[in-house]
This record gives sequence, C-alpha cells and structure tokens, in this order.
Amino acid sequence: MAIELETILRPVDHPVPPFPPKYMQVASGEMMVVRQIDREEVPELLPHVEPLLHVERDYYDIVSARVYAELLAYYRHRVQDEYVLVAQIDGELAAIVNGRFLNADVGVSYHTLALRRGLRVGAHAFAAKMEYHIDIVKQKEVLIVAESPIGFRRWMIEYQLEKRFEVAHELGGVPSWALTKEIFDKARETLVVGRRPVPEALLKKAQAAILPPSSPPKPPQDLLAATRAMNDPTGTSLMLQRWKQEGKV
Ligand SMILES: CC(C)(COP(=O)(O)OP(=O)(O)OC[C@H]1O[C@@H](n2cnc3c(N)ncnc32)[C@H](O)[C@@H]1OP(=O)(O)O)[C@@H](O)C(=O)NCCC(=O)NCCS
Repeated sequence: MAIELETILRPVDHPVPPFPPKYMQVASGEMMVVRQIDREEVPELLPHVEPLLHVERDYYDIVSARVYAELLAYYRHRVQDEYVLVAQIDGELAAIVNGRFLNADVGVSYHTLALRRGLRVGAHAFAAKMEYHIDIVKQKEVLIVAESPIGFRRWMIEYQLEKRFEVAHELGGVPSWALTKEIFDKARETLVVGRRPVPEALLKKAQAAILPPSSPPKPPQDLLAATRAMNDPTGTSLMLQRWKQEGKV
C-alpha cells in the first residue's frame, strides 16, 4: 500500500540531457568547476545551506530557506524536473544554483546562492544554469525573479531581462522576468565564461567530495552590529535574538 501510494506521490522526470561540467578562472586566480549533482549528493549540501538561514544580510535567510526546501524536494522526489548545479573551488562549495524545466520550451530559474563572496562565483554559476536551459536543453526562455537587490543587479540589469509580468513565477507568485535566447546570445561574450572539457584531475577533485565553504556568510556576532536589521521591521535577526533570550532556540 505504502509503495503504491509512493508511485502516485513521486513525479516522474522528463528525460533531458545532463549539464556537461565546465571550469573557469575566478578573480582570485583559482579554478572553479561547475557541475551537476545527483540526488545522492544533496545531503552533502544541506549542512552548508542550513547556517545561512540565520544570515539576514543580502537576503541569505529567505533564499537559503527556499533552497533548502528545493534541495529536499529534489532529494525526496517531491518536485518534477528539477536540477542542481554546484560550483566548487578546490573541492570547496562556492555556489549552488538550481531550476526546473516547466515544459519543453520554458525553464524556471529557482535560486543562486554564493557561499564565497566577492569573486562573482554566483554570477558565473547563474550563467552556467542559463547555458543549461538555452544551449543544452534548447529552451526558448527562462523565467526569473530576484529576491535581493544584488540579485536584481546581477540578473535583471546585467542581462537586461525582459518583463513577463503577466506570468506569476513559481517563487512566491511574484511577476516574472525572462531570459530569452536572444538575450543570452548578447551576453555570451561578456557574462558567460568557462571552458570544456574540465581537466581530469580538476573534475575528479570536485567529484571526490563537496568540501565545506571556507568563508561562508555569517550572521553578525553582535546584534548592535546589525544596524540595518534594527531599522527593518521585516528583519529576522531581532526575532532570532528574542528567541535566544526566551530560550526557544
Ligand atoms: C546574488 C548572489 C548570488 C551574487 O553572487 P556573486 O555574483 O558571487 O556576487 P557577490 O555576492 O559576491 O557580490 C555582489 C556584490 O556585493 C559586494 N559584496 C557584498 N559582500 C561582500 C563580501 N563579503 N565580500 C566581497 N564583496 C561583497 C561585491 O563587491 C559585489 O559588488 P559588485 O556587484 O559591484 O561586483 C549572492 O550575492 C548571493 O548568494 N546572495 C544571497 C542570495 C541571493 O540573493 N540570491 C539571488 C536570489 S535572486
């Protein structure tokens, strides 16, 4: 009975070609590998996403909460046609990007989460996922939203995305923006970098283990340092501090 029910609950993914891994040099001079992971590797990511739930700065809290749920949904077969790419520098987790194939022509961009700041790892990982939709799976467009001002600058402004405000995005039902093949073609020379094939040693190192990020974003040590949060009624760090004082966490 339980097994029969599981066959109903578990969606069946449509076949799509895999993302061929690529590599690029980032601003620090280090080499970064972007590759697709299987469901089995999801548990290696979760411990590095969970601490970001408490980082309010740059909207890491809401984005990581959603990424955590999307990773679990993928791992436990509760989402259809999702994929997850990771960016690694020397094995270390630098970024996570994910999305979904809505139908043969349209893709849905879920999230981009940078675990190392200041190297445009998020921007490179985002470009790789757009490449997956447009070049590898041959979709016509990808629906995108931004939860943070940095995200808005990186995607809507840098790529000059088109408005698709009549389409509610799966993330929060907010109005969508779209990256079309034409927009991606214009960005190829500047925003899309990387080479293939990945040298064997580099790929093996990445596949061997997803190592913890060495300098992930962290919540402020002192609540007084979170000055922005103190003026922001939607902020979560005040809430967290209160729960700590009340012994709830
Ligand atoms: C949006 C995001 C993926 C972009 O990643 P990225 O391309 O690697 O860029 P970074 O976040 O490192 O840097 C973005 C800007 O913030 C600055 N910055 C902020 N904190 C920084 C830090 N600790 N160190 C260095 N630079 C920092 C950078 O200088 C950079 O400025 P620039 O746009 O003029 O280049 C990343 O900021 C992120 O994961 N944010 C939280 C989740 C999120 O908003 N995701 C996108 C949802 S739409």
